[in-house]
Amino acid sequence: MMKRKTTLQLQSMKSREEKISMVTAYDATMSRLVELAGIDIILVGDSAGMVMQGRSDTLAVSIDEIIYHCQCVGRGNTTAHLVGDMPFMSYQTSLEEGLRNAGRLVKEGGCQSVKIEGAGRHLPLVEALVDTGIPVMGHIGLTPQSVNKFGGFKVQGRDSDGLERLLAEAKGLEKAGAYSIVLEGIPASIAARISTELHIPTIGIGAGKTCDGQVLVIQDLLGMNSSFKPKFVRLFAELEATIVEALKDYDSAVKSGSFPSEEESFGLTKKSSPSPVYSTPGKK
Ligand code: KIV
Repeated sequence: MMKRKTTLQLQSMKSREEKISMVTAYDATMSRLVELAGIDIILVGDSAGMVMQGRSDTLAVSIDEIIYHCQCVGRGNTTAHLVGDMPFMSYQTSLEEGLRNAGRLVKEGGCQSVKIEGAGRHLPLVEALVDTGIPVMGHIGLTPQSVNKFGGFKVQGRDSDGLERLLAEAKGLEKAGAYSIVLEGIPASIAARISTELHIPTIGIGAGKTCDGQVLVIQDLLGMNSSFKPKFVRLFAELEATIVEALKDYDSAVKSGSFPSEEESFGLTKKSSPSPVYSTPGKK
């Protein structure tokens, strides 16, 4: 029985001034742990292109890949609100294509809502999606799909009309029916002003503490890559060291012959344990 958080529950968290936690996830093993931690939202982000596929940006990710990761994540977690990211060129060419691809994230990926980068020319799509019954999370500021236009992953909104522009984009998204907005890589003061003026929740990443919630890429907050530590990331664990240590121990145990032991091997006859060789982990 699914008990995923709904968009209405997330919005009422803002009215109660309760902060919203959101992380990315791309597979069932991690999304099960996210459920155990009680995180409110999972985003199957196009950041998959970087952390899962090892690319330098998100641009090559396809809608089929996001659907695949959504299906994996959905099997591991039954409580978090599940958001599917609309990858680059899955909605930019036409309203019809945007509607069709968002529909695939819901029908095939099992998502409850979709995330779209940008405002302005995408507002008619946001309206059409909401009208169709597909809730939309907006995303403004440092929108990674525009990395080539920005000339790199750079903080946005520091120019003289940055506040007015970002505020207008956020208000446009709210008016078009978005249920929440990610604010990425913008000055904390601008994010604070947007969060105060909007009725819908803002989710910040590199946007300061006044946002109604926060999102981080899960590999970043778990410290799985010590060579990647931008200013806005806090390491809540240092799993790179832990995992490498465990793998080194395994390597030595295999090479020294101490693994597997007799207890870790099967005999010819069944002794006490009637269990199968293994059961399916996380199967609900
Ligand atoms: O793709 C992603 O992971 C994102 C978040 C970082 C907001 O868009």
